[in-house]
Parts: sequence; C-alpha cells; structure tokens
Amino acid sequence: MDRAEMEAFWMPYTGNREFKKKPRLITGAEGAYYFSEDGRKIFDGMSGLWTTGAGHNRIEIADAVSEQLRRLDYSPAFQYGHPLAFELAERIVSLTPESLDHVFYTNSGSECTDTSTKIARAYWRQIGQPAKTKIIGRTRGYHGASWGAISFGGIPANKKLWGQAVDSDHLKHTLLPGNEFSRGLPQSGQDLADELEDIITLHDASNVAAVIVEPISGSAGVIVPPVGYLQRLSDICRKHEVLLIFDEVITAFGRIGDWFAASAFEVTPDIINVAKQITNGAIPLGAVIVKGEIYQAFMESDSPEYVAELPHGYTYSSHPVACAAAMASLDILEREGLIERVRQLAPVFESKVHQLRDSPNVSDIRNYGFAAGMTLKPYPGDPTRRPWEVAMKCWENGFYVRSGGDTIQLGLPFITTESEMDSVVNAIGDALS
Ligand SMILES: Cc1ncc(COP(=O)(O)O)c(C=O)c1O
Repeated sequence: MDRAEMEAFWMPYTGNREFKKKPRLITGAEGAYYFSEDGRKIFDGMSGLWTTGAGHNRIEIADAVSEQLRRLDYSPAFQYGHPLAFELAERIVSLTPESLDHVFYTNSGSECTDTSTKIARAYWRQIGQPAKTKIIGRTRGYHGASWGAISFGGIPANKKLWGQAVDSDHLKHTLLPGNEFSRGLPQSGQDLADELEDIITLHDASNVAAVIVEPISGSAGVIVPPVGYLQRLSDICRKHEVLLIFDEVITAFGRIGDWFAASAFEVTPDIINVAKQITNGAIPLGAVIVKGEIYQAFMESDSPEYVAELPHGYTYSSHPVACAAAMASLDILEREGLIERVRQLAPVFESKVHQLRDSPNVSDIRNYGFAAGMTLKPYPGDPTRRPWEVAMKCWENGFYVRSGGDTIQLGLPFITTESEMDSVVNAIGDALS
C-alpha cells in the first residue's frame, strides 16, 4: 500500500505516527495464521484479539453468514424480532449457570459494560431503591472504551485524557507481591476481596448498585484471581445486596477451558457479559446474560404492556447475521470439542510458557487455560516500551503476540499444536534475549 493512502484512517489504540512509517498490514488468514502484506505467514498468538479461538476463516461460519445475508440481511431490532435471535438466546442460556436465563444483545464488550451497569442501576430503581447507583470496578480492569467502561475500568492510560464520567470506585487488583510465577490460580490473596467490605461501608450499601470485574483480567496482562477470591467477592455482594457482574468478554466460550469462568470457578454472578469469541470474531456481537429475577423485576413494571420495560438497545442488537455467525461458531466449539482441548492442553501450555521465567527482564508470568501474561522489567521511566519492542521483534520473526502496558500477552488459538506452543514461546524468548 502507498503510504499516502494510509493517512485518512485514524487507528484505534495505535501509535498512528509509528505505524504509518512502518505498517504491519494483514491481508489474509487461515487457521492459526495470518498472512502479511509482505508475504509472510505469521502465527496468531492472540487469536486475533481474544476473538478467534477456533481459527481463522472457518468455512462453516462463512457459509452461515452468507446464507443469512441472502435470507434476511437485517431486521429491525426494536418492536420486531427474528427467530434466530430467540434460538440463540435459548442456546446461550442452556450453557450458562442455571439462574442466568435471559439475554440482552449488544454489539461489543464496551456496550455490554454500559448495558449491564445500566440494567443494574435500573433494577434497583425498579424495586424501590433508586439511590443504589454507584458501580465498583477494579484497578487494572478493562471493560472497553465507552464512558461507562473507562469509568469502571482501572487502566490509567485509558482514563487520563478524559477523567471519570460515571460514578464509581475501585477495588485493588490481585497482583500480590509473593505470588509471582504462580501457575494457574495463586494460592494466597483471597482476603484481597475483603476490601470490598470497606468500600461498600464507605459509600453505604444503599448507594451501591454493582461490582464489575473480569474473573481473569485480560488486557492488563492475564491477572488470575487467587483461590477463593471470586467466591469471597460474591459472598460480600450477597451480604450487602450488591449485584455482581462478571465481564467474561475474554473468558467465555473456551478461552479458559470451560464455557464460562462462572462455571470454571463455580461462582455464579448476577450478570455475565460476553462478546469476542461468541462469533469467533467474524461479526461483532455481544450479550448481557442476567438472572431471571432481574428480568422479572422489569416485567412487573406497572407501565402499559406495549411500552418498553427497558428503554435501551442498539440498532444492531440481535443482528441476524451476527446471530447466524454465533450459532455456527458455537457448533464448531461443540463439534470439535475445542473447549475440552483447551482444558486438556492447558497444563502443557503452562509448563512451556513458564520456561520463559529465566529469560532476561521477566519479572512475572501468569497463566490460565490458553491465556498467559508476563510482566517485563521497565526501562527507567518508560514501562511500556520493552513489551512493545518484544512484540515488534516477534512480528518481524513471524509471531503475533500482544503488548499491553508492562506486559506481553498470549491468547492462543484453541487449535494450537504443542509444537506451535514451543515456537511462540521460543520466539518470545529470542526477542527477550
Ligand atoms: C474484558 C473485556 N471487556 C470489554 C472489552 C471491550 O470490548 P470491545 O472492544 O468489543 O468494546 C474488552 C476488550 O478487550 C475486554 O477484554
């Protein structure tokens, strides 16, 4: 591509000046690989952006999308419906913990953040507690780029330019000194959850609507919860009548070797947010899955039945083509046993990724399922440069891994072979050396 043709596109979360001097253009994909504009085959160590676990360009999804586009390309999301949206919702709730049985569609993780927290606040109002509005997030959490998401999220660089928009407070993250190089769930640190008692006491439970956390923080570098931590959060939420929202935009649909983190960790929140892997990344779709009692609170509204109980939604909520992509993608996960595959191979990946422990400048490695993050020692005053340099070096050598803050992240495709695991780990090791 001619550089002059690249000026108009203002790229998201990207150093535009650097990129446009030295572009990294992806022009094709297949299975666990990308093809770059300069003719190279590149291992996709991040499944796109935690999106494409079943591998790229799945023909079954392409066929489902193409068929749907010919049958019903779009139907109005408000006041009218199409059958596939109902079928998909039934299918999703057949996979969630039992009490989570209603689905509100969005198009992205950020919209899930806004939707789930709006539902939480509206729920309390609906049942006569309108003061319960505050949302509690967690430092290093990432919930997207909307006003709600940057307020509840806890990554300073994503907050700095615009300040807080929506009333919120934050728990501490769970990167506990002493837990470095834990494999899977760290054994200590569950009492970090007790801080929630203090925060709720500070604001008073009568003012607090919900806590929103990623069961495993992804964008901050795969921060895995200590054993018992999520259960403790849940217990404290129950005690104080505060809703618990799991942002499972990364963890749902296989990444951690289960359908949901809620099932893997046996902690049932009140609301689960999903996106990314639900369509294998092929078409944008998100969903907020809520407990029946939340849905029912709205259905008991005393407004006339024809009036929307929740005045909220998006033009593309339940887009028929996205629903078709999701159905095909769930078929693949089930038919090919990809979630079991992740669960079985997770220990292999764990032992391989922890081999990087002795590489230069590695200060921590964390992993769960097919996700891993490693923290790198900073250059003085510039903590994000080294991971970025490592990611760029890997790209030059045929591997796409992600840098975020002071971390390198891996989100392997669920189809990754053991020798591909070796290759990507060696590529990171070489770059670090
Ligand atoms: C946990 C989590 N929540 C929400 C989002 C935001 O999703 P989107 O970029 O689709 O708005 C992300 C994106 O990475 C995420 O990782």
